[in-house]
Amino acid sequence: MSEGDDSGNLPSTYDLSSVFAAKDSREVAELYDHWADDYEQSILSWGYLTPAVTSWFVGRFVEDRGAPVLDAGAGTGLMGDVLATLGYSDLVAIDISENMLAHARGKGVYRQTGRMELGQELDFPTGAFAAVVATGVFAAGHAPPESLDELARVTRNGGSVIFSVRTDVLEDTFGATLERLEEEGRWERLDETRPFSHLPLEDPELKLQVFAYRVR
Ligand SMILES: C[S@@+](CC[C@H](N)C(=O)[O-])C[C@H]1O[C@@H](n2cnc3c(N)ncnc32)[C@H](O)[C@@H]1O
Repeated sequence: MSEGDDSGNLPSTYDLSSVFAAKDSREVAELYDHWADDYEQSILSWGYLTPAVTSWFVGRFVEDRGAPVLDAGAGTGLMGDVLATLGYSDLVAIDISENMLAHARGKGVYRQTGRMELGQELDFPTGAFAAVVATGVFAAGHAPPESLDELARVTRNGGSVIFSVRTDVLEDTFGATLERLEEEGRWERLDETRPFSHLPLEDPELKLQVFAYRVR
């Protein structure tokens, strides 16, 4: 854990153990607000692979690069940067941390950015997006499994929801939600990666999978 600074007990740099132990959404927002300026330097130095892997699923399943794509839990906009580079031109970012979003806004790749909380009702009409991506957001102390109900709702019929899930929460809680949405006929699985180390230079034991679903 990195040393605290003068803003209470918050660490001064991005710290994995603190975010995974966040008790509620207010705390996770506070932690990310505090880390926003260092986030990219830290996570990229740890070999963060999730946006690279996720972009392959987007390229395969989201053919229309002019269609609206929601980046949910966009953080500083790393995924938006990758998608814009690939030619996706109608990107919207939401996140619970205003300071992370400020960095995303600064990249100039999003049509719209806004503070919203995954796990609560999202302020978008049903079927607003051709696709949703969410990278690094479904992990301990982060957004809850019920977020997926809303992400499926805001995706149009035939659209894709593409997201990473840490393997520990997949087993504990998310797996049941993925299955429930399939049983309810809300979506069908298109593909999934095998588990992989998404921060190989920091903690190779931490693993996640990326999933792609088609909404019905
Ligand atoms: C590890 S970062 C990933 C950011 C970005 N998607 C990426 O791949 O670099 C996790 C992000 O999820 C956001 N987050 C955590 N819980 C959330 C929630 N309930 N609703 C919205 N955003 C949330 C955090 O503020 C943070 O920006």
